[in-house]
Parts: sequence; structure tokens; C-alpha cells
Amino acid sequence: MTITLVGHGYVGLVSACVFADLGNTVYVIGRNQEKLDRLKSGDPIIYEPGLEELLKKNLSAKRLIFTTSYKEAIPSSEVVMIGVGTPPTETGEADLTSVLAVATEIGKNLGPHYTVVSCKSTVPVGTNRKIEEVISKLKSPQASFEVASCPEFLREGTALNDTFQPDRIVIGSDSQKAINVLLKLHEPLEGERVVVGLESAEIIKYASNSILSTKISFANLISFICEKTGADVEEVLQGVGLDKRIGRLFLYPGTGYGGSCFPKDVLALINTGSSFDVDMTLLKSVDTINKQAQALFAEKIITNAPGKNIGVWGLAFKPNTDDVRFAPALHVIKTLLDNGFSVTAYDPEGMDNTRAILGDAISYAQSPFDAVDSKDALVIFTDWNEFKQIDLAKVKSLLKQPYIFDGRNMYEPAKMAEAGFHYFSIGRKHT
Ligand code: UGA
Repeated sequence: MTITLVGHGYVGLVSACVFADLGNTVYVIGRNQEKLDRLKSGDPIIYEPGLEELLKKNLSAKRLIFTTSYKEAIPSSEVVMIGVGTPPTETGEADLTSVLAVATEIGKNLGPHYTVVSCKSTVPVGTNRKIEEVISKLKSPQASFEVASCPEFLREGTALNDTFQPDRIVIGSDSQKAINVLLKLHEPLEGERVVVGLESAEIIKYASNSILSTKISFANLISFICEKTGADVEEVLQGVGLDKRIGRLFLYPGTGYGGSCFPKDVLALINTGSSFDVDMTLLKSVDTINKQAQALFAEKIITNAPGKNIGVWGLAFKPNTDDVRFAPALHVIKTLLDNGFSVTAYDPEGMDNTRAILGDAISYAQSPFDAVDSKDALVIFTDWNEFKQIDLAKVKSLLKQPYIFDGRNMYEPAKMAEAGFHYFSIGRKHT
């Protein structure tokens, strides 16, 4: 098939590379010529394991075409997928400006045949019908089209695996013809097919991200109680998670969820529910607890650190990504800076993106050891593999004071005490 992906962020670029790898001809539309030139040269711009190789492979096979021109891509495409951002507005709603602008361009350029317009961007319920309206008004009389919602469930860091082997592929549409085209396009991919109505597909995406966020906030809430009562949250959640009805996945406490999805999607669902007079207390609490997790971690450092010159490991909102959007690390670091701390940070991939936000308000280290050299304490935000079995004796010898504040519960408190550290983690006894 010939298809178009509009947008080349995590969703757009990963989907484009995967569909190209399956033998399709894939146009990718972007707005920024400089970024498109980088993509054309095989640089994926974002850090995502395996993506660069897949991009290069499909560029050389000439199955991937990057362009700014809707006129070049849309008329020959059987499927046009929208994969642009829906960032939060100041009031927490999803900003649909880009999605609707893209719909306008698609409408103006549809070819004189049948096209399926499928939205992969995370959009509030009702948006696909708006997209349909916009395109209907602008399309030529010879063009026919139908819309379908095809939400994306890939995670950063494991995006390729999640796209080749998803748990499920959700296709929402009123039209069996559109559904059949999308079923054919997704045929080689694994995962259960969930074929539903437009509105259901839109809500499945928000409900999925919101329940995962709820599990994380629940784990954090239990960690607050454990810390006050002498219980150990890891023991507690292991005991809870072994119940198959509950499971342990996404029941790990920490400094709260971050990234470009959970924080904004929880807020957007609160907004949608509220606009239909549904009491959204549950998700409002999920958001509040997430903010408390960050505030309590900052407070723990401010109260217990023996000095204000600290080293930081991890800036990305989770391992295996360079993404620092809504990263708990950046939020907590800002609080620490406001309280007179000075920060030297190390992250294997997230330093360039952090520099773009925090500039030289903090210093950047060349290695984890460099970050802790002569510092009063180490603060850990992201559980990158390279920190898991690092030489802690060397860390101790470099630190001015043997203090570690671990926002990801990476180490065993008893072992840390034995090694002579003052070790503060989440929901466990301090040593
Ligand atoms: C999330 C969803 O997992 C994807 O299914 C979805 O497609 C994506 O959002 C999206 O809507 O685009 P992602 O944001 O890449 O994916 O990251 P996750 O792995 O879900 O982690 C989100 C945050 O939760 C991270 O900050 C992570 O550290 C935190 N987390 C996760 C915890 O604090 N505890 C946990 O137990 C699990």
C-alpha cells in the first residue's frame, strides 16, 4: 500500500518506519525542512533504541519519503494517518490546533479516489467527527474518504517492539470498508484486533493511560503510608501484585509519572469528564498524588541533605529515552535550585534536551562518577541500567558525604547501610 503519516515524532516516525519495513511505500509529512533533511540523512532526531537502523534500512530501500508537501503525498495514498502532537493547553485540555490544521491540508489534497483518514494522535472523544467535518467541507467532489480512530499504545524506549508486537490493535470506525482497509494494513503485526466505534476507540486510549497513571499514583500513595509506619513499600506491593487480578506492572512507586503522555492525558480526561458533568474526583486525586510524590521527594532532599552541592543521575522521564518532557527530575531540580542548591547532572541521553530547558542553571557531567565528585549527596531520578550495578564503593569515595537519595528504589537499604551510606529511598526505612 501507499500511505502517509503526518508527523514524525515518536508515533509518526515509528509507525512510518514499521509500515515501510513491512513493504509499504510511506510518505512522512513534516513542517520543518531542517528536521526533514536530518531524517532523510538517516538521523531519527529522537533517541529510540533500534529506530536509526530501521530508518536507514527503509530509506535505502526507498520506501520512506520525507516531504513538506501534502500535494506530493496525499493524492496517491490509500491511508492517511495523523500523528501530530496534542499538547495540553493551560487549562489542561488537549490542544487540537495541529490536528485540525492537518485535517484542513488533507481535505484540500485528497485524491480522486477512496482514502481512509485515520487518527493516531491522542484526541478527546468527538475529535474524529470534527476531522471528518473539516475534510468534508474542503475535499474535491471526486474524492471520497472515511475516518477511523487508530490509537497508538507504544511506549518510548520500547517503541519498535510495542509496534511490531502490540497487545492489541484498536480500530474505531463507523465504516466496515475503512475498517477492512486498516485490518489489511495491520495484517502482519501481532496483537488482538479490537474493532469498535469511533468514540469507543478515542476513549480506550485515554482510559488506558489513565488507569496506568492510577496504578502508579496508588503505589505512591501506599509508599507515603509505608514511610510513616515503618513498612517497606516494595515488600507491600510485591505482596499485593502477586494477586493475578492486580499484577505488579505499573505498581512501582517513585518520583511520579512524567513524559508527554500520562500527565497530559489524565488532565485531558478530567476535562472531558467534567465537560459532561461527570465527577472526576478519582483522576483529580491521581494527578494530585503525582505532584505530591515529586514535592515529597524534593522535601526529603531539602531536609536531609548534608549540604547543597548535589550530583544527579538521570534526567529523562524514564530509561532508554532522551525525552525530558514533564520529567519529574526537571521539576524537582527546579525546586532544589529555588532552595539554593547547586546541581551537577548526568544522563546517558537526556542532557541535550535538558540543556534546552534549564540551560546553565545546572552543570552537566561526562559520567556518573564525574557527577558525584566532591558532592554532598547523590540524587537518582531515572533507573538507567548503567546505574544498577555501578561501583558504589567508588561513588562513596568520590562523594564528600555518603548520602544517596534514590527516587527509583534501585538499591537494597540494608546493603546500602552496610556499605556506609545514608540511603533515602521511596516508601522504605531510611538507613
Ligand atoms: C505511555 C503508555 O505506557 C503507552 O502505552 C502509550 O502509548 C504512551 O504513554 C502514549 O500515550 O503515547 P510512555 O509515556 O512512553 O508510554 O511511558 P511509560 O513506560 O508508560 O511510563 C510513564 C511514566 O510512568 C514514566 O515516568 C515512568 O517512570 C512512570 N512509571 C511507570 C512509574 O513511576 N511507575 C511504574 O510502575 C511505571
